Amino acid sequence: MKILSRRRFVGMSSIALGGAFVGSRVFGPFNLLANTTGQALPRLPELALERPETNLVKARLTATEAVASVGGVMTKMLTYNGSFPGPLLRLREGERIQLQFTNGLNQHTSLHLHGLRVPPAVDDPFRHGHPGDVAEYNFEVKAGSAGTYWYHPHVHGQVSQQLFSGLAGAIVIEGPLDNLPELRAAEEHVLVLKDMSLTGVEVAPHLPWEIGGKQGNLTLVNGALGPVLRAGKGTLRLRLLNASTARFFRLSLEGHTMHLIASDGGFIERPQPLSEIRLAPGERAEVLVQLETGSFKLLDGLNPLLTVEAPARLLKTPLPSELAKIERLDLASVRVRRQVVFDTAGLGKFQLNNRAFDMSRVDFEARFGDLEIWELHNEHSIEHPFHLHSYPFQVLSRDGKAEPFMAWHDTVNLLPGQRVQIAIPLRDYAGRTVFHCHIAEHEDAGMMAVLEVKRDG
Ligand code: C2O
Ligand code: CU
Ligand code: CU
Repeated sequence: MKILSRRRFVGMSSIALGGAFVGSRVFGPFNLLANTTGQALPRLPELALERPETNLVKARLTATEAVASVGGVMTKMLTYNGSFPGPLLRLREGERIQLQFTNGLNQHTSLHLHGLRVPPAVDDPFRHGHPGDVAEYNFEVKAGSAGTYWYHPHVHGQVSQQLFSGLAGAIVIEGPLDNLPELRAAEEHVLVLKDMSLTGVEVAPHLPWEIGGKQGNLTLVNGALGPVLRAGKGTLRLRLLNASTARFFRLSLEGHTMHLIASDGGFIERPQPLSEIRLAPGERAEVLVQLETGSFKLLDGLNPLLTVEAPARLLKTPLPSELAKIERLDLASVRVRRQVVFDTAGLGKFQLNNRAFDMSRVDFEARFGDLEIWELHNEHSIEHPFHLHSYPFQVLSRDGKAEPFMAWHDTVNLLPGQRVQIAIPLRDYAGRTVFHCHIAEHEDAGMMAVLEVKRDG
């Protein structure tokens, strides 16, 4: 990692030494104590949006080295717009957006809008942004896509290091369903869950033997270690994002049931009560929680991530009974079935269908307009979360067992040995894109392949 330019570094250290509180807008929460457990949950800074005309939104993101707080330690890291996690991008269904992305790093990077329903040509997962390059993402936020998404780098071979070093931010898309009175009455928090480890005041680099997945020893919520969420309302709406490269979360809230209202593909049909939620790298979930009075830990397994404090006399508001209506796909129309086998060819080799990623090779050629069924088969002894760009899918079954409820997904986890069937409507746009394991180290090592959707003629 390059040393910060002198001017920038002096600017930052004077802020740090002066002790001025700059708030979370740029630098994240600042605290002189390294051990900041107990600080208030940082609110994510929101990305500034310009609205030059109705329905047109302009915004700018820059990948840049900066000093930001990691659990209270001012750390030299990779950031978007100087903040860790990156600023929250909040959009509405139906809006047109012009997002300008600048590579302010001294290495290749690119910006991927994970889960957004944008054409492959806009997403362009093959892009290799050079230092100084500026890329424009022009797209419309699709109706029905309200939900929680995220953005991160996508240059093959660099993703794990850059993501681990801080390049991740959340995206919230709002739509008409967010106006349901039961959702409006809830207090919303976006929680970016991300692990990291430090070497002094820098992010620890990947070591050669960490090719199978690097896990940090700090498990952060919005960049803070063990923060406290002091609830002001009796029902919380938590938007949960696992932005780690390789860490899985098993989330539960002491003394509470979580009511799932959205998967990684947006709203489900009605709230599903869950005692715990498993989030693979890249996955999101939204839950409602009706709070009891007291202090409760949000746990990852047995490990506390966050404390929720609920004072007496908060009003528990009701849960919505109906959310989205999810399309029943016409499975009788399926003509193409494919298999994706997750395997390894020995130590440190990660591949799909016996081949490592090659961006110049098309692995699956498909016809625009087709509904396809893919069988994902994990032949490996560890888990692999499957992720497909641009085309949301529905999970039909896991090891032959039908899903308990309908949902759209862009990511689905595969347990060791598991077979998962998914149905993918290849519609809305054609083009060339990728699917891969979302353990970023596996993706970097080649567990990725190319899908090309072609129009007839
Ligand atoms: Cu979030 Cu291709 O990835
Ligand atoms: Cu993605
Ligand atoms: Cu994997």
